[in-house]
Amino acid sequence: MDEKENIIISLQHVKKAFEGTTVVEDFNLDVKKGQFVTILGPSGCGKTTTLRMIAGFETPTSGQILLNGEDISMLPPHKRPVNTVFQHYALFPHLDVYDNVAFGLKMKKVPVTVTNRKGEKVTKMKHLSAKLIDEKVSHALAIVDLDEMEDRDVKTLSGGQQQRVAIARAIVNEPQVLLLDEPLSALDHKMRKDMQLELKDMHKKLGITFFYVTHDQEEALTMSDVIVIMKDGIVQQAGTPEEIYNEPVNAFVADFIGESNIYNGTMVGKKKARFIGGVWECVDDFPLNEKVDIVVRPEDVMMKKPGKGTVDGKIVSKIFKGVHYEFIVKVGKNEVLCRDTKDHEVGSEVSISVDPENIQIMHKELTVNQYTDAYINNNNQVVIGEDAFDCDITQLIPGSFVDADGYLVDRRDGKRYDFKDADVIAEIGLDQIDISDDLSSGQSQGTIIEMVWIGDHYQYIIRTDDEEDFVANSPYTWNENDTVSVSVKPEDIKLRLKKGLDEYVVE
Ligand SMILES: Nc1ncnc2c1ncn2[C@@H]1O[C@H](COP(=O)(O)OP(=O)(O)OP(=O)(O)O)[C@@H](O)[C@H]1O
Ligand SMILES: [Mg+2]
Repeated sequence: MDEKENIIISLQHVKKAFEGTTVVEDFNLDVKKGQFVTILGPSGCGKTTTLRMIAGFETPTSGQILLNGEDISMLPPHKRPVNTVFQHYALFPHLDVYDNVAFGLKMKKVPVTVTNRKGEKVTKMKHLSAKLIDEKVSHALAIVDLDEMEDRDVKTLSGGQQQRVAIARAIVNEPQVLLLDEPLSALDHKMRKDMQLELKDMHKKLGITFFYVTHDQEEALTMSDVIVIMKDGIVQQAGTPEEIYNEPVNAFVADFIGESNIYNGTMVGKKKARFIGGVWECVDDFPLNEKVDIVVRPEDVMMKKPGKGTVDGKIVSKIFKGVHYEFIVKVGKNEVLCRDTKDHEVGSEVSISVDPENIQIMHKELTVNQYTDAYINNNNQVVIGEDAFDCDITQLIPGSFVDADGYLVDRRDGKRYDFKDADVIAEIGLDQIDISDDLSSGQSQGTIIEMVWIGDHYQYIIRTDDEEDFVANSPYTWNENDTVSVSVKPEDIKLRLKKGLDEYVVE
């Protein structure tokens, strides 16, 4: 079949705004006949809105929705060969199972050709015959496995059974496309798992296109042919479950789908990236010195004898997960989540290794210097790399002050906090770093390893002896390999605690 003919739904630059606020932005997707497509994303990202536009309950602000190649933007919902199982489905409480499913069919009129008194053939709109309705309802109930329950009052059904009635009601109309908006969200874990399998089975039996919405990533991975990941109304990635899982395009997708280790990295050579204190071979070629996000799946981390891998660390936790164990290995200040079918003792030293093809590297848009392994020292300074910077730790608790003992005091309740050794994430804007030739003037110093002219200023990367990078904007000219000092005003260092405040209360 021609590729184009095979496409049942095509969303082209679809946008939806409510009162000026855009909730779906430039949505593009071609869905093939019979596919199981899942939209996955956090609450409020625009999943239901997208489905409602396909169903016809919302009109796109701009863009087109094609069904079998024809624009259906102006077609009302009941004229579309599409049926919806809503996020909050409602059955008719006063009707039994059979009548709930038959309801739509009894209302429906279809064109039939009849011969009138004059012997002419004319087309009339007629209700379906009771026999035909009966056949269709029985068929739909058989598919959802409720054929024995036709006469049951819907109020007496379990959640899963009610859900199946809702699905039968949608498929009885024989839609070309079935839209399902989180149809399993009201069910408990076990029933959810069972219904997932049943839905998948139903999809196979019916052979129609399923458009499914969920915010459960595991559900999306097990059920779909295609997963579309949305965030803030914008499609982040569309692809098969394998593509999305193995080749996430950005850190959001990687984090949203499956468990991942995500680190800040820097390209330090041809197909070589530096992160968590090691230099790793990888298969992606990015420009030298580019700041990147690194994703490593826990199952791809190999634990070896000390010294045999790329970086060494210590096992700090272990959980038995049935088939495998899950370990957290502390490597310097970083944590590496790993899985292994073999048991290892907590506290033992291990070495971490990852095959190059399992290190996923992604572009990072650098807007701020972020140091995820910074900490507060005894003088309430923040230590980045090995250098201490004066900072304003009162930002950790709004309206607090530092007392004579160096503890932070919360003015509201008088509680005292000791942040010495607290792990923090420190952020410094690219414009907030001063570069100087006077090496005694800054808190840190390093060598300029890269400079790029960006319109009206240079962007420099300054690397310290302990391999920490500062990216700084400056209108002044230095040269590569110059040694310079770096200084930052205390108020320009943004701090966030890695753990909760409770950890630091002084009793
Ligand atoms: N009729 C409306 N008027 C104004 N804003 C709306 C309307 N419908 C949805 N929104 C807003 O659009 C955004 C996307 O909503 P939508 O229901 O599509 O999210 P969702 O991804 O389905 O979330 P959830 O997982 O919570 O169901 C939300 O911010 C929501 O408040
Ligand atoms: Mg929704």
